[in-house]
Formats: sequence, structure tokens, C-alpha cells
Amino acid sequence: MQKLEVFGASRLKGQIKISGSKNASLPILAATLLSSKKIFLKNLPKVKDIETMISLLQSLGSKISYDGEKHIIDNSNQKKFFASYNLVKTMRAGILVLGPLLAKFGKAKVSLPGGCAIGTRPIDIHLKALSNLGVKYKIFQGYVHAIAPKGLIGTKIKFPQISVGATENLIIAASFAKGTTILSNCAVEPEVLDLVNFLKKIGCSIKWISKRCLSIKGVKKINEIIYSIMFDRIEAGTYLVAAAATEGNLRVKNVIPSLIKTELNILRKIGAKIKVKRNEIHIIGNKDIKNISFKTAPYPGFPTDLQAQFMVLLCKAKKDSFIKEDIFENRFMHVGELNRMGAQIKINGNKAIISGNTDFQAAELMATDLRASVSLIIAALTAKGKSVINRIYHLDRGYENLEKKLKKVGAKIKRSG
Ligand code: EPZ
Repeated sequence: MQKLEVFGASRLKGQIKISGSKNASLPILAATLLSSKKIFLKNLPKVKDIETMISLLQSLGSKISYDGEKHIIDNSNQKKFFASYNLVKTMRAGILVLGPLLAKFGKAKVSLPGGCAIGTRPIDIHLKALSNLGVKYKIFQGYVHAIAPKGLIGTKIKFPQISVGATENLIIAASFAKGTTILSNCAVEPEVLDLVNFLKKIGCSIKWISKRCLSIKGVKKINEIIYSIMFDRIEAGTYLVAAAATEGNLRVKNVIPSLIKTELNILRKIGAKIKVKRNEIHIIGNKDIKNISFKTAPYPGFPTDLQAQFMVLLCKAKKDSFIKEDIFENRFMHVGELNRMGAQIKINGNKAIISGNTDFQAAELMATDLRASVSLIIAALTAKGKSVINRIYHLDRGYENLEKKLKKVGAKIKRSG
């Protein structure tokens, strides 16, 4: 089992280029199933979850190759509609093939994704909304067996709560439905907008009619296109927090600063100096870190995917901070490990009370989920001595070349085992 050794303390100095967004790539890869033409995708991040989604598409009959610059996805002979457990279990976003398979074939058998460390991750919102489009389904032996006897029929759907994945599944399915679908109470994460931009480019008829409301007119004709995936705003936020926590001086490039306004404002409130250019953010960390409180929320609120990282930063504030995790029911798995490094964080339900003035101590640590793992790295960067983070396969799911990027800006970090 591979692990990472981090020799702290170090200050991050220099510049980091941000990769393509994992969470924009996954729904866009699933949406390529709609097309019987070739689709060319640039800027897919080289991370495990993308490899898994590519394997899942290949198991469905997609022909996928990479020419060193872009991925070529050819679904002209893609005929299968069975997405197996062994692929979906390791990458929950596999459920995103359900919408496109139903749109293309009118039937699908897709493994239930199952839960993960941060929560049970149900898909009831996906399924209820698909049934509004005329899908009949049953859950049997761990699979969703779904069929649209009369094809998908456009209608009005209001999501009972905001769900990124359900919004994405329904946007893709409705793109091939008969007639028009109105989706309201949609998630509006930048990754959802990137999916909409992609679908419009391949010829789908989609438009935002108000902040969280989409009108989607079903089409059948799809164009062959080349599309470049947006930047990974969570990767960008992660490195910005790492720079703030290590009193660093970092330029983060290949970003669209306006898409991470909330995070930048919080970093300024904490005391970091932030300068924004067209596709670059320059951050200078401050020795005096101020405490703040926030709760996680759907975009444009504070992203749950940066909660663990900011918690590490707040451990170093002068006074106590409070975080409320309002999206997932179990997203404090990093707290136990941070407390083993000397943090004093108390959990009360979905609230965390973070005592300040923590000097993290190097320790042997265990990663539990993608974002918790990277928060341990940030803490280890500030701790004097050698920390070891085990089970780093969690990290490899979502961070491209993490140790290479960190080494380039002064971190002493190496992979072993
Ligand atoms: C997406 O997950 C992201 N994953 C997550 O990022 C992210 O944390 C999450 O959105 C919230 O922003 C990808 O995009 C691949 P949701 P998703 O449906 O779509 C509940 C990372 O670290 N819910 O918006 O699964 C659900 O349990 C990952 O990159 C239902 O109850 O999130 C959660 O409590 C982690 N029923 C809440 O809604 C449903 O049918 C939000 O989930 C669907 C969701």
C-alpha cells in the first residue's frame, strides 16, 4: 500500500498550474454516450476517477484513445447498457451513465453506487426525477434496472433538494427526450455549467431561464466537437489554502478567479493577501491567521469539498472557529487524524468547534477520503519533522501529480511503499 512522507515545515513558494476539473470531466465523459460521432476532449485530468470512468465507458463499448494532447471518444459502435458493480463501486459518479444510457437506448442496468466514507450517497432524487421523464425502474440485487417503454418524454421537474449529480443526470437524459423539459431547483456548480456548455456545443438545445432553472428541448442530431474541460476549482482552492497555512507565496495559474469568489473572500478574511489576474491568483500567507465561521452550502455557497482543507488553516488561527457541514452527513473523518497531530477540534453533530493556536506535530496518519487526505498533507506541511500519510489511493482519485506540484514549490514530499 503506497504512502506519502512529508518532511515539514515548509513554505510553499512559486507557481502551480491547475489541472482540468475531475467533477466537470465525469459528467461530460458520461454525456459523450449520447453521441454516435467522435468527441475530442482536452484537459481531462490524469487521476484515478477519470481512468475508472474511461474503463466504465469502454466496458459499455466506447472506443477511447489518447493522442498525447486530447482524448478521442468514439461511441459509434457503443451498444451496451450494463454498468457493472466492479467499476461503479470504486467511483460513485458511475451512476452518471444512467441518464445517457436511458436517453440513447431507452433502457439501462446500472449498479447502485453504494456509499462512501462521507455518507450513504443515495440516488433517490436521480430516480424520482427520471421516473417523471417516463422511466420505470426497480432496484434488484444491487442494480437499478430501468426502462423507458415510451422513450423519455419531456415534462416539468422540480428537484426536492439541490443535487449536483441528479441535476447532471437529468440534463443529459432530457437532452434526448421528446419535447421540452423544464428542470428547476438545479445545482449551479461551475461543473454543471461546463456540462451544459459541452452539451450545447454538441448540438443540444439547453438554456438557463432563471438562476436554478433550465429549459431543455430534446434533440437527436449531435455534432462532432473538440471540447476543453474547465479548471479544477477544488484543486485550486486546496493549493491556495496550503499556501495560506504555510505562510507561503504562491501563484496559482490556469484558473478563472470569478468562479471561486467565496473561497477568495474567506481567505482574505482570514488574513491572506490575494491578488487576482485574468487566469491567475497570487496569494501571500499571513502569520496572523484570523478565526472565522462558515457553513457548507450548494454553489455559490462555501464548497463542502474545501471544508477539510480550511479546517486545517483555522486550527492555526488565534481564536476558535466554527464550521457547519450542511451537505454530507459524515464529512469530518479528517478530525480524528488532525487531533492526533495536536489539533483540538470538537464535533457536535454536523458542527465542528476548532480551537486555534495549534502547532501541528508530525505523525503517522491514515487517509479516509479524497479531501480529508489532502487536509492531512496540508497539516503535515506545517509540522516540523516527518509525517507519513497511509492509504493515499484516496488522493490519487482526484489530485493530478500532487507531490510533483508540491515539490516544485518547495515541499519536501515523497511517495514510498
Ligand atoms: C458532487 O457529488 C461531487 N462529486 C462531490 O465531490 C461534491 O462534494 C458534491 O457534488 C456536492 O458539491 C462529483 O461531482 C463527481 P449531491 P454528488 O448529489 O453529486 C444528497 C469530491 O470530493 N443526495 O449534490 O454525489 C447527498 O447524499 C466529491 O470531488 C440525496 O439525498 O452530490 C448529499 O447529502 C465528494 N439523494 C447531498 O444530497 C440523491 O439522489 C448533495 O449531494 C442525491 C444526493
